[in-house]
Amino acid sequence: MSLIPSGLNYGIDLHKKIVQLHIAMRKKILLISATSRNNLTLSNKIQEITANLDVQCDLINLEEFEIPLYTPIQQKSGTPLPVQELIPRFIDASGFIICAPEYNGSIPPILTNLIAWISVSTDKWRDVFNGKIALIGTHSGGGGNNFLQAMKIQLAHLGAIVLPRNIVVNSYAEFNPDSTREKIKQLIELL
Ligand SMILES: Cc1cc2nc3c(=O)[nH]c(=O)nc-3n(C[C@H](O)[C@H](O)[C@H](O)COP(=O)(O)O)c2cc1C
Repeated sequence: MSLIPSGLNYGIDLHKKIVQLHIAMRKKILLISATSRNNLTLSNKIQEITANLDVQCDLINLEEFEIPLYTPIQQKSGTPLPVQELIPRFIDASGFIICAPEYNGSIPPILTNLIAWISVSTDKWRDVFNGKIALIGTHSGGGGNNFLQAMKIQLAHLGAIVLPRNIVVNSYAEFNPDSTREKIKQLIELL
């Protein structure tokens, strides 16, 4: 027999249900780290900040997924399993934070490869990104400007609304938690 008076019990159950509903309705961000060194460190710091904001933020490290290089011939063998697993997580998110290094003045292949697979594995190639909000971060050797520009062009092409400000870390610019929090809050407001 419960020691809590039945009326109070009802109140606790209702409160639990409201909390569960609130969690279920929370906005979802998918945080994507293209690599598992500096950019994963940056992603972890970003995720820590989101823990104090009203949002659910799942982190994926692309280096943990073995995704073959997209080619039209490879496509004939079907969508690779890791891509099949990742697509629902992309669909489920209403916003993205993408952290990646600049490679040769552009986007690292691990990221464009996944985007290529996603675009050919969904009903309409834009489905996963269209109308969603994206924030880009980078820890690169330099400022990462070429990566940021290239990533913005690709995400805009896919229909995403990309925030004008970026999160930039390198050997000259250390991680700034205050400005990062502001950028994430801006992203959340737009979700
Ligand atoms: C193949 C390759 C190309 C790179 N090209 C650039 C570049 O064009 N601009 C730049 O600023 N850094 C460049 N870098 C340096 C990386 O951006 C830098 O080492 C970054 O921290 C790597 O990210 P990670 O530590 O998360 O793996 C390059 C690194 C590699 C391996």
